[in-house]
Amino acid sequence: MNPDLTVAEFRAALKEGPEFARELDRGDPLREFRDRFELPSAGGATPIYLVGNSLGPLPLASREAAVREMDRWGTLGVDGWFEDPSWYGLDDRFLGPLSRLVGAHPAEVAIMNGLTVNLHLLLASFYSPTAGRRSILIERPCFPSDRFAVETHLRWHGVDPETDLIEIGPGEDGVLLNESDIERALKERGDRVALILLGGVNFLTGQLLDLPRIVKAARGCGARVGFDLAHAVGNVPLHLHDWDVDFAAWCHYKYVNAGPGAPAGVFVHERHATDRQTLRLGGWWGNDPETRFRMQLDPGFVPRADAGGWQLSCPPVLAMAPLGPALALFDEAGTEPLRAKSVRLTAYLEWLLSPLLNGPDRILTPPDPERRGAQLSIQVEAAAHVQQRLQQEGVIGDFRQPDVLRLAPCPLFNTYHEMWRVAEIFRGALQEES
Ligand SMILES: Cc1ncc(COP(=O)(O)O)c(C=O)c1O
Repeated sequence: MNPDLTVAEFRAALKEGPEFARELDRGDPLREFRDRFELPSAGGATPIYLVGNSLGPLPLASREAAVREMDRWGTLGVDGWFEDPSWYGLDDRFLGPLSRLVGAHPAEVAIMNGLTVNLHLLLASFYSPTAGRRSILIERPCFPSDRFAVETHLRWHGVDPETDLIEIGPGEDGVLLNESDIERALKERGDRVALILLGGVNFLTGQLLDLPRIVKAARGCGARVGFDLAHAVGNVPLHLHDWDVDFAAWCHYKYVNAGPGAPAGVFVHERHATDRQTLRLGGWWGNDPETRFRMQLDPGFVPRADAGGWQLSCPPVLAMAPLGPALALFDEAGTEPLRAKSVRLTAYLEWLLSPLLNGPDRILTPPDPERRGAQLSIQVEAAAHVQQRLQQEGVIGDFRQPDVLRLAPCPLFNTYHEMWRVAEIFRGALQEES
């Protein structure tokens, strides 16, 4: 199909049947990337892997990179820190591709720890309550770990979450957040808000928030603003520097495909990152490399003048090795072609599923591609049964109690024909229940 069609034109040109799905696959400029992954196989068959929003599959080159570093450890021992390509600069070598993925300068990103740990470290820097300004604004539902991080930071500072944790819930439809509700809350109570922390793409509904609009609202009331981008990085276009976001944190095990518990990422805007006066918790890896190894000779903490200044420990080499090749796939495929395929793949699945959903059953994710990434959250009364049938047929999807199925069509490895098959299984399962 013509690659220049708008999404509306693409939708209008869609046709029924598996042959049409195969035709879409033949015309997919990214179709060869699928072969660059080990897709989990159940009993020898290749299942349809629709949980890249939860744990991305293993890139072949990432397996090689991990084994290579294990071998180098075996043969080089401590010299691995110095022999080219040295472990010493391992994470720094990944900052170029990572910064391109999130729309940042290399000096604004760092790779370290897990996502929740990083949220704590960034809250330590960016949440400085005063008597008059001490509230934190989050969304509802908020990912539990983020809520726990925020709640405990409030308590850490002696602030009562009952009064100073502001939660903005969904609008009239009971599902999606309205940016206008956030703006209204900030107009009414903004002079008390110290920090706004929101998920860029909501974990449950797949809704993509208008991030620059939220930054603007934050600036309007003098609050700082950070985003949890766990479901956004590697999924939707990001321009964190230009949007003037204060900070962001994300993991690399979802759409970035860097492996379970892979070291996570942070963004700190250069206006804070290059300012050595920005308060942060210190560790030797965040210290200026010029004096890092002077140890007892130079005992004072001098932070790096970049986002690396938030690092605490030396990089976990074996856990980090898969990230390089995983990021390289994004550079190779190109963020624009990936987004174009993502939009089409998701729109196609939506087009196939929508006619099957009646009564209370519905797609919770916004229909507008500008307001979502590669995820459809489908609320179905018979969700448990549909999930069971999908599993029996080799479709790996995700079921959230009590009735939401989350399917993530990822442009690096999913196909249009897979979408067609999933919809057919869905149709069969719903018919069995009616
Ligand atoms: C939106 C969001 N925030 C935070 C987390 C917690 O991540 P971690 O366990 O890496 O700290 C997750 C994990 O899936 C998540 O989806």
